[in-house]
Amino acid sequence: MGETTFAGARLLVVGGAGFVGSNLVLKLLEQNPREIIIVDNLLSSDIANIPADPRIRFVYGPITDDRILRELPDDLDYAWHLACYHGNQSSIHDPLADHENNTLTSLKLFNRLKDMSGLKKVVYAAAGCAVAEKTFDEAKATQEDAPVSLYHDSPYSISKLIGELYGNYFWTRHQLPIVKARFQNVYGPREMLGAGRWRGTVHTVWRNVTPTFIWKALNKEALPLDNGGNASRDFIFVEDMARGLMACAARGKAGDIYNLASGVETTILELARIINEVTGNPTPVDLRPARDWDRSGKRFGSTEKSRREIGFEAGVSIREGIEKTVAWTLANKANIARCMAQHDYFMAHL
Ligand SMILES: NC(=O)c1ccc[n+]([C@@H]2O[C@H](COP(=O)([O-])OP(=O)(O)OC[C@H]3O[C@@H](n4cnc5c(N)ncnc54)[C@H](O)[C@@H]3O)[C@@H](O)[C@H]2O)c1
Repeated sequence: MGETTFAGARLLVVGGAGFVGSNLVLKLLEQNPREIIIVDNLLSSDIANIPADPRIRFVYGPITDDRILRELPDDLDYAWHLACYHGNQSSIHDPLADHENNTLTSLKLFNRLKDMSGLKKVVYAAAGCAVAEKTFDEAKATQEDAPVSLYHDSPYSISKLIGELYGNYFWTRHQLPIVKARFQNVYGPREMLGAGRWRGTVHTVWRNVTPTFIWKALNKEALPLDNGGNASRDFIFVEDMARGLMACAARGKAGDIYNLASGVETTILELARIINEVTGNPTPVDLRPARDWDRSGKRFGSTEKSRREIGFEAGVSIREGIEKTVAWTLANKANIARCMAQHDYFMAHL
């Protein structure tokens, strides 16, 4: 990638206080942009993730707020849309909150950005899980042109697809230069358990599998393996993801779609073993039945198109990524414990 693509540029990162967004912001700062505007309502993130840097302007509030939209400068060069209602289980608990923060966000943001004639690229965080074939047999790498089902297990998944549909509409109708980045399972530093507001289920605290397992393993707890840990995922380290998102903006073709994936299939049992080894957790895993909403089984993403067309390849192995994430978790234990403790009352009264 041209190391200077974003030098002197004016950038917008919606959801930039979040896990992936804050890692992207850190990587963008290395290229010395003129300004990074972060719009975030801290619904599932913590203010500690926003770096203290004079080039950052933090706008606290939802991107659906008409005043915030109106006051965005018209001379933005690049935008990344990473806001969502985190995550699948929260959306099942409250589909309307998902609609407000995961569907309306995309529609209102794209509708505003379409008026900015100097915008070079808008990158949308799409979800690989929304297109993956549901299988517990041998998984095949999911390509960008995989068929998409009209039946989905969560409002979250539906919203992520609607974002793609609106992206396509605003590209074909208004030439909004949108690039869709389909994420596999991201893990790494700055994903804070419990970050943000209570969203109705234990998954406000226990977010994705990797930070949950790391926290439990560091506390010498048994790692819970739904369905015996037989499901598999494509885990991509967050710094690779941030590079991929920058590659999408720098070299992605407007209107097109790229997987951001490691291309490596790892079972949840393998993940648990690596985490127990790295953290020195002696407690055996806890084998459990399948979760009722999750029929996604085994999956991983194809890396061919993004390697060929935007020169993106993930570089960090799962072992190395877990070592870095464990080190970060240990160094940030007090902050993570603070975020988790915000929800003690709700967790005790479920
Ligand atoms: N992490 C993954 O494995 C993964 C996988 C597939 C897709 N994605 C997508 O990547 C993006 C980032 O995910 P993440 O893991 O960093 O989650 P995250 O929850 O850490 O980040 C989402 C951010 O959006 C903010 N937000 C929510 N509603 C908002 C609103 N109305 N206005 C402004 N900001 C709002 C949240 O406060 C949070 O900071 C999301 O769009 C998500 O759907 C993530």
